[in-house]
Amino acid sequence: MTNANTTAASAARQTPAALSFEGVSFAYPAPEGASDAAAARPVLDGCDLSVPEGAFCLLVGDTGSGKTTLLRLAKPEIAPAGSLDGRVLACGRDVRELDGRASAETVGYVFQNPDSQIVCDTVWHEMAFGLENLAVPEPQMRRRVAEVSYFFGMEPWFSRPTAELSGGQRQVLALAATLAMRPRVLLLDEPTSMLDPIAEKSFASLLQRVNLELGVTVVVATHAPAPLAPFATMAVEVGEGAVRPVEVSALERRGRLADVAREDDAKPADGPRAADARASVRLRDVWWRYGREEPWVLRGCDLDVSAGEVRAIVGGNASGKSSLLSAVAQISRPQRGRVEVADAACQALLPQSPKALLTAESVEEELMEWSRAVGYARGDVLAAMGELGLAEGLLASHPYDLSGGQQQLVALAKVLLTRPRLLLLDEPTKGLDDAARAAVARAVSRVADSGATVLLVTHDLEFVRVCATSVSMIFDGKVISTEPTPEFFETSWLWGVSR
Ligand SMILES: Nc1ncnc2c1ncn2[C@@H]1O[C@H](COP(=O)(O)OP(=O)(O)OP(=O)(O)O)[C@@H](O)[C@H]1O
Ligand SMILES: [Mg+2]
Repeated sequence: MTNANTTAASAARQTPAALSFEGVSFAYPAPEGASDAAAARPVLDGCDLSVPEGAFCLLVGDTGSGKTTLLRLAKPEIAPAGSLDGRVLACGRDVRELDGRASAETVGYVFQNPDSQIVCDTVWHEMAFGLENLAVPEPQMRRRVAEVSYFFGMEPWFSRPTAELSGGQRQVLALAATLAMRPRVLLLDEPTSMLDPIAEKSFASLLQRVNLELGVTVVVATHAPAPLAPFATMAVEVGEGAVRPVEVSALERRGRLADVAREDDAKPADGPRAADARASVRLRDVWWRYGREEPWVLRGCDLDVSAGEVRAIVGGNASGKSSLLSAVAQISRPQRGRVEVADAACQALLPQSPKALLTAESVEEELMEWSRAVGYARGDVLAAMGELGLAEGLLASHPYDLSGGQQQLVALAKVLLTRPRLLLLDEPTKGLDDAARAAVARAVSRVADSGATVLLVTHDLEFVRVCATSVSMIFDGKVISTEPTPEFFETSWLWGVSR
């Protein structure tokens, strides 16, 4: 061996990995009443993973495979309770031995939903919050906050209240506030699932800058690896308790869905469906804002949806999509204009946050909650779970003990069980793997085939392509175009299927 080689080899030996999992096994405590087999099955079983300093690592795996569990084990403050074997090291030190300050300066964690992270009323306070907790002296704190804000170009919205930020800005704020602690390793759990495709790309390039310019090691758990893949240096897949390396290039193709066959496709265009085209939803000149002093979110919005349609509403973050859905669901009353909904008495809404629907002590109770009122039985619950790929073994689990994707699917199953005539869905595929997205697309098409109407808001354009019959684009508080799905994609320059 030459001298140079010897030096390189010993340097490699001396530099500890930024993050390493050594023989890590982890099992959650079994829910009461669960079978012994379920109790014995660990989520992670003897996992080894080494992420070198400076790496940009993608962590992929099916819904419920253990990605969040793995990431959280590297951050003891938020580590799940359960039985753990093996060691997790950050920059060569066991994460359980780090005190609060060392932990903050070693490992930063960005949650899937920025709302579970943002606690302060203004951007500036949010940025300073973690530093205040660590008792960083004020001049140093101001300097750190200013540097990070400058790096992310946040000056234009730096003094805004956090409640007024768009989804994209909230995600950038969650990232910036974490980076103000100057961690050497940054862990992110599904950071782009709430972002529109354009915001998703700019967030991906921000992460690359954090990685290259600030030298921070980045590990991202994601179901949508394609936009991040160009920046990744490595990728691993979690599944069946193990962690295996995968080729980054193989991830660029993920996210495609097979087309969903609809009963409708077999019918002639002027068949029963056309005759059935009664109005389901009609909005006329709808104006809506949060409060008297606030800017208008919907500004003269018109919308017509016919019965049996699957209408997708697309548009940038903060363009008014969820507000439009709330107006149709009559959760919020517009200040001006008319909302007419034919099936108002038989409509169901899946809200953007699935937790808003989950209130019971177990999945079984949750899904049986409306069985009397609507008239369905336990067998229907099992069928609804099966349709969405949810294992029966989850019936005994507490809904809050499910993975993010499983919670989303349980909330959707609950809504589907009401057999709505008008189904309103806010981001139904967020945080789901490809198999679950395809199952949701099939479920939506089945609902529409039964003659019900579906109105869905989504950033997932591939999902739109396979299951929507028409697409409305919302911009500047108005629906500015409505087209059949094939035309929407053919004529779109920006909104091609890119996921
Ligand atoms: N607090 C908990 N108690 C019991 N079981 C849990 C708990 N949290 C998660 N689980 C189970 O552990 C498994 C792994 O969950 P985890 O959240 O790590 O998956 P994930 O890969 O992040 O999934 P997703 O892609 O849906 O976010 C799932 O089967 C889930 O039901
Ligand atoms: Mg997760």
